[in-house]
Amino acid sequence: MNNLEKINIHKPVLLDEAIKFIPKKNKLNIIDATYGGGGYSKKILKLKNLNQLIAIDRDPEVNYFAKLNNYKKFKFIEGNFSQIDKIIKSYQLKKKLLGFDAIIFDLGISSNQLNDSRRGFSFDIEGPLDMRMNQKLGISAYDLVNTFNEKEIANIIFKYGEERFAKKIAKEIVNYRKKSLIKTTYELASIIKSKINKLSKKNPATKTFQALRIFVNNELNDFKEALTKSEKLLLPGGRIIVVSFHSLEDRLVKDFFNHKSGKRWRSSRHFPEYADTGSSTLKLITKKVIRPDEKELSTNPRSRSAKLRVAEKLGKLNEN
Ligand SMILES: C[S@@+](CC[C@H](N)C(=O)[O-])C[C@H]1O[C@@H](n2cnc3c(N)ncnc32)[C@H](O)[C@@H]1O
Repeated sequence: MNNLEKINIHKPVLLDEAIKFIPKKNKLNIIDATYGGGGYSKKILKLKNLNQLIAIDRDPEVNYFAKLNNYKKFKFIEGNFSQIDKIIKSYQLKKKLLGFDAIIFDLGISSNQLNDSRRGFSFDIEGPLDMRMNQKLGISAYDLVNTFNEKEIANIIFKYGEERFAKKIAKEIVNYRKKSLIKTTYELASIIKSKINKLSKKNPATKTFQALRIFVNNELNDFKEALTKSEKLLLPGGRIIVVSFHSLEDRLVKDFFNHKSGKRWRSSRHFPEYADTGSSTLKLITKKVIRPDEKELSTNPRSRSAKLRVAEKLGKLNEN
């Protein structure tokens, strides 16, 4: 993709389903915590009862897609949603917003990022091994595969990719880099392929690429922090709406919602810090997870693994 002329190619997933869960009330104040190509935000901006929409994304390149003019109701802020409270604070004060009626997370990366060869997210597209959602910050996938030791690499691939061949792959990465540094997506994908012969439709590099991306972007920790902070930003009756794309993310959402709704009020692997006592603060709205329908599955392959869950803050809805 050319830097000067970007076209939004991201097709939102579970968009209509997610929007339906926005509470029905006047003067809605909403946070779209993952702006991406703006698919969700643009639909929210059409709601007649919208008061304010704040959109967030950590990727500086998203600024380009977030230039929506003529909207007094819309504010885009670049930042990591793990800092959601700090990010929105000054705007929230300026607009005198007591809290929010919906906070929406459509997790992972967008097709704009995945299909951009400069970003190095895809094993299908040749490019530099980078994978950072914000290329100005932190270590890249290149740093990871070329400097971490074998055990560290194996642990990352196993933990964040749930890849049973993690040790084998890590060993091959370390062997390979003795001869030359691993610079590109194709190079890494072929190293993985050379070691794994799986009879599966999926590319053998799928899980490793997922794992490196999650680690490089600290995705699970950031999201965990964002969930806890978001709950505090909701008005009574306000909702957290989450679309996730892999089981590690979905488990975090499920655990958090279950804990907070008292369904499974105990500490878990993901939230060990929670005490086993205390009153519930959320109500589960989606008793069963919502998946894309056949139509969406056939028109948007990216929706294959999507899952939608919603929870509501307890208390009386505030008509402000
Ligand atoms: C799946 S896309 C969102 C697509 C969007 N809903 C749309 O319809 O166009 C996910 C976006 O979330 C952003 N993102 C991921 N993790 C983030 C974080 N920790 N903080 C802020 N933005 C994040 C990514 O940069 C990406 O642009």
